[in-house]
Amino acid sequence: MTMNHPWRQTLHVEPKTGWLNDPNGLCDYGGVHQLYYQSSPEDAAGGGKKCWAHRQSSDFFHWSEEETVLFPDIPEDRSGVYSGSAVVLPGEIRLFYTGNVKEPGEYDYILSGRQANVITVTTADGSTMSEKQVLLRNSDYPADCSCHVRDPKIWREEGIWKMVLGARTRRDRGCVLVYHSQDVLHWTFAARCTQPDFGYMWECPDFFRVGGQGYLGVSPQGLTHEEYRYQNVYQSGYFPVEGKLEEGKLGAFTEWDYGFDFYAPQTYETADGRRILYGWMGIPDADYENPTTPLGWQHCLTLPREIRVGEDGKLLQQPVRELERLLSAPAPMEGAGELPKACVLKLTRTQPDFALTLAGGLTLAYREETGVFALSFADKALGGGRTKRQSKGMACKTLEVVVDASSLEMYLDGGKQVFSTRFYPESYPVGYTLTGGTGSVFTVNL
Ligand code: FRU
Repeated sequence: MTMNHPWRQTLHVEPKTGWLNDPNGLCDYGGVHQLYYQSSPEDAAGGGKKCWAHRQSSDFFHWSEEETVLFPDIPEDRSGVYSGSAVVLPGEIRLFYTGNVKEPGEYDYILSGRQANVITVTTADGSTMSEKQVLLRNSDYPADCSCHVRDPKIWREEGIWKMVLGARTRRDRGCVLVYHSQDVLHWTFAARCTQPDFGYMWECPDFFRVGGQGYLGVSPQGLTHEEYRYQNVYQSGYFPVEGKLEEGKLGAFTEWDYGFDFYAPQTYETADGRRILYGWMGIPDADYENPTTPLGWQHCLTLPREIRVGEDGKLLQQPVRELERLLSAPAPMEGAGELPKACVLKLTRTQPDFALTLAGGLTLAYREETGVFALSFADKALGGGRTKRQSKGMACKTLEVVVDASSLEMYLDGGKQVFSTRFYPESYPVGYTLTGGTGSVFTVNL
């Protein structure tokens, strides 16, 4: 019954009921995009045991019905089917995930009381799963690791299979463990990558290449918050990797997204060679809220984003090109007006000071003098308690905004920086005022 609620997203994948977190098992299987995600179908607040939900699409916007396909049903995953990834083999997808086990008793669940098992299953149709097989257990991880080791991501390189796992050492240092395998089932420890003073835990690692350059994506916990970066409770970003990943030479870390709602992303390659990134448009342990929770569902994924290398070697993100096919003819945007529920704004800054206010309580502003781009909520209900996020150093010549029923994704300067946030307007259409810029609004027809 809440399927028609005005806050129901139209372009973004969200759960029918309950809670969603990390994207998992992303792959292109025979030209169809396979999407799995962490799900607690019965508890919108995220309690209960995590499962994997599944959907598929051939165009990123029309999806099959949500189906829960992996449940915690063996001793090695009894407290949750946690995050993981997929590889496509002839005639099947092989999935890997972390089986989380919390032993009953008085434990801190960091140094004791928790098992983190790497488990695999195969599926020929994306949703019917084979028997589960345990590949790695706590005893297979380096002795200085805590019980927090998880989120396997697998890829093939140099004629072998490679896996990265996110980990926390017993001395509270975040790192990535690298394993090798000849047959995808037997794995041996090969290397570790870390960075001094860079958090106590690294979740959801991902190694991928764009234009030949290797990148290590991680979601670190425990970074010190700063004025213009690392503003959320936990972070997500990537390191360029110099040479082989196993040598552990990581360059400077760049955040994927500067908004309120982004965490635990994963990438995959499409059949036509595009690197696609999906993030969870949410974050654990935030001090702001989503008013859909009492209505029975919470969170969504970001739009799929195409990743390219920019001139400075930093990665550019752009909504998948399939979105363009859904856009109506442009209508001019100037001064003030109203926006439909799902639309794309393509704006150009024409003055040193630029400001776009939506629904009377959310302002996106840029000042050339300081180079600061800021997203500020003046209205507590509109932002569910979100306040302000900002970044520095962009030119903000162009700004593309994807507006959905209850979210915004803002792509600055061709995707050099992105800001994602949820927002909860009281009514639609959403009014806007625009100063210091001009552009067009394109309605999305889905
Ligand atoms: C990241 C994360 C992963 C874990 C999953 C559990 O949001 O904590 O590390 O596998 O969520 O749902």
